[in-house]
Amino acid sequence: MEKVHNYNINESNELMIGNFSAKNLVETYQTPLYVMDEHRIVENMKNMKQSFSQQSLKTEVIFAGKAFLTKAMVKLIKENNLSLDVVSIGELYTAISAGFDPKNIYFHGNNKTEEEIVYALNVEVGTIIIDHKDEFELLSSLATNYYPHLLLRINTGVEAHTHEYIKTTHHNSKFGVSAYDDKTLDLINMINQSPFDFMGIHAHIGSQIFEISSFQQHTIEMIEFSYKVKQKLNVDINYINLGGGFGIKYTDEDRVPNIKEMLKEVLNTADEHIKKLNLNIKKLMIEPGRSIVADAGVTLYSVGSLKTTYGQKNYIFVDGSMADHMRTALYQAKYEAVIANRVNGEKNTIYTIAGKACESGDMIIHDIKLPEVKKNDIIAVFTTGAYHYSMASNYNRLLKPAVIFVNQDKARIVVKRETLKDLIRNDL
Ligand code: LLP
Repeated sequence: MEKVHNYNINESNELMIGNFSAKNLVETYQTPLYVMDEHRIVENMKNMKQSFSQQSLKTEVIFAGKAFLTKAMVKLIKENNLSLDVVSIGELYTAISAGFDPKNIYFHGNNKTEEEIVYALNVEVGTIIIDHKDEFELLSSLATNYYPHLLLRINTGVEAHTHEYIKTTHHNSKFGVSAYDDKTLDLINMINQSPFDFMGIHAHIGSQIFEISSFQQHTIEMIEFSYKVKQKLNVDINYINLGGGFGIKYTDEDRVPNIKEMLKEVLNTADEHIKKLNLNIKKLMIEPGRSIVADAGVTLYSVGSLKTTYGQKNYIFVDGSMADHMRTALYQAKYEAVIANRVNGEKNTIYTIAGKACESGDMIIHDIKLPEVKKNDIIAVFTTGAYHYSMASNYNRLLKPAVIFVNQDKARIVVKRETLKDLIRNDL
């Protein structure tokens, strides 16, 4: 069977997600609609766990909830034995509400509020990632009978861009404390002598990274920093959390590395350096978000009207917008799409797919070649599983779409479509 973005096309030339045609899904669930292929999420989780494993070191895969989090997603994470990274009381509450074991939760954030810390302590979150000294002092003043494990977020100066890493000479990130600052060693000493269990260090160098060398460099810097801590303080770093950021393919232009090979290389590099420096590092962790969910998501829109401008630009207007698809406007991100109800056809027209929000930058895809589009066609935009639902807003008082999970023969709503009543629920 012919495929597009790894999805089948049926005999009627319609896009299939699992065993459902996108056209049938739209008849049942309407548009705009976020569709998540549950089977693919699970495959991605399994591959990630399998690739990030090695005999000589313990490893842990922690899903970065910011990419996509709902109660149904929490259950999938749990069923597949991944841990979870949360960055707010909202993400934490979602996880706890869905019955996730708090011991396997890592609580991040550069400005955790008192309310958030108290909640995290009450539910007994397993690990808190300390961002800086003020935060540690706040946590110390709030903890009375439960002391979670702590990691310290450090900043190695390795900053990765999509195609390369650079070592920054100025260390002004809003996240973490610098590996070059002596005060960081003082903070480690302070944490180590507190009633908390100091477990090690965390760093995240960026997102949508393509270069294996960036991660290798990052891994080396983390291990060398651990060596410095051992030399200067005689404190063992037991755990190193390398963060997330593994790049994925949005369009044919993206030259992505093979994640399996990349993770193997990272583990080999780590193993070699840990042995060379004779360190007591017991576990390595990664925190992928995008690489678990992005390619499992498809957004379905209905075409309202079409317009050819005086300047001869062909617009397709869809019933969604930057409120449900933020990344094109925000990052000039690129996507691929098809007409889901008749995928194959002569691609003879260049269109710009625009949303319905009141803002000129509200575009979904610029300049895409498609067969001639008609009113009521369904547009399927691929690779929208990460940072779409989680970044959706109510701009223009637009309603957030429903999210459905499709797994072979089963389709189910996991987040209901918002209603007009939802919009004014909190208005007084
Ligand atoms: N860990 C930490 C501490 C992070 O800050 C992030 C992402 C991740 C893990 C997961 O990174 P991933 O594997 O998903 O690349 N809104 C942007 C992405 C922001 C990512 C922020 N941090 C986007 O739509 O591209």
